[in-house]
Amino acid sequence: MAGGSGSRFWPLSRKDKPKQFLKINSDKKTLLEQTVERINTIIPKEQIFIATNKSYEKAVKEKICCLPEKNIILEEVSKNTAPAITMAFLKIKNIYPDSTIFILPSDHLIKKEDNFTNLLLKGAEIVEEKNIILTIGIKPEHPETGYGYIKSEKKGLLSNNHQYYQVKEFKEKPDFKTAEKYLEAGNYYWNSGIYIVDSQKLLNEIEKREPSLYNDCKKIMEISDYKNLSEIKDQNIKMKIEKIYNNLEKISIEYSVIEKLKEIYMLKADFIWDDLGSWTSLERVKEKNENNNIIVGEHLGIDTNDSIIYSCSCNKIVTTVGVKNLIIVNTEDAVLICDKEKAQDIKELRKLIENEK
Ligand code: GDD
Ligand code: MG
Repeated sequence: MAGGSGSRFWPLSRKDKPKQFLKINSDKKTLLEQTVERINTIIPKEQIFIATNKSYEKAVKEKICCLPEKNIILEEVSKNTAPAITMAFLKIKNIYPDSTIFILPSDHLIKKEDNFTNLLLKGAEIVEEKNIILTIGIKPEHPETGYGYIKSEKKGLLSNNHQYYQVKEFKEKPDFKTAEKYLEAGNYYWNSGIYIVDSQKLLNEIEKREPSLYNDCKKIMEISDYKNLSEIKDQNIKMKIEKIYNNLEKISIEYSVIEKLKEIYMLKADFIWDDLGSWTSLERVKEKNENNNIIVGEHLGIDTNDSIIYSCSCNKIVTTVGVKNLIIVNTEDAVLICDKEKAQDIKELRKLIENEK
């Protein structure tokens, strides 16, 4: 899933270059490249599909090589993950009628990659054995309101000796107080947004809970004959597809389906996971200097402490004197100076910026 428009890394992330296309934790690879390479260690390229908005087609193709053309699934309008997953599943089913699918967000950091891929394989075994829907849960570290929360209970051991859990309650993006309560309770996990499912089983659940969304997605697939939007030249067909898109509900898979499922199971992550949700997450993935600063790019400073300074502009250097707790981002055409405590508000700021590239 690579069609989101994450906005909290502005001014580095832009409408045409959201988080998955940035090199946040690595100097060499974007998060999307890392996601594809990680899964490619267990899944061949012909079976990796990228669902994204048509406006990111070039960005995807620039970064990801050797994926068959048909495996890049383009959406006319970004309608969040429920329509994206429904259309991608219908398309994949048309090629591989019977399949277990790993749904992977493309905007996360994952370390201990062998543990990650082993867990996915174990998960696939149980999904195939018991025909269940499986998610991967992360031990929470702080009350985060941007995640889904899973209340779980030990269910049993898999044939491969791995513990799995039954989800007792799924709550997407609770308010801060509720998130604090969940953290204290101790038996809640963060939802990683990584799912392991049988394609038909999830499609059945989507059809049951969101019939009009499901039918619209199905119509789009049938009208386009399961082709990619870029291949469709007939204006009439294009107009029909656009019309359906305009009426399509914009909703995530969690709000539309996952929260409402009667039965869903969880595996506990044994890898390191970070959603890299804002500039301050760099503190978890980059090394700090002796003054507790994260510095990327050119910077000269006196008495500069506890700050994150990111410069990717070649023609101006960032200089600071007597500053503390700031995020400073310097790009070719924009400079951001932000209190570290307010890092989450950058998405509000972006709404104020008109004509953003
Ligand atoms: N193709 C496509 N189309 N992909 C999309 C779209 C879309 O319209 N919208 C979002 N995505 C992609 C994003 O690029 C990302 O890789 C993934 O789907 C998840 O979307 P986000 O928008 O980043 O979701 P979130 O972070 O708010 O919430 C999800 O992730 C949390 C963990 O980071 C949920 O799964 C939460 O429950 C979870 O805790
Ligand atoms: Mg996300």
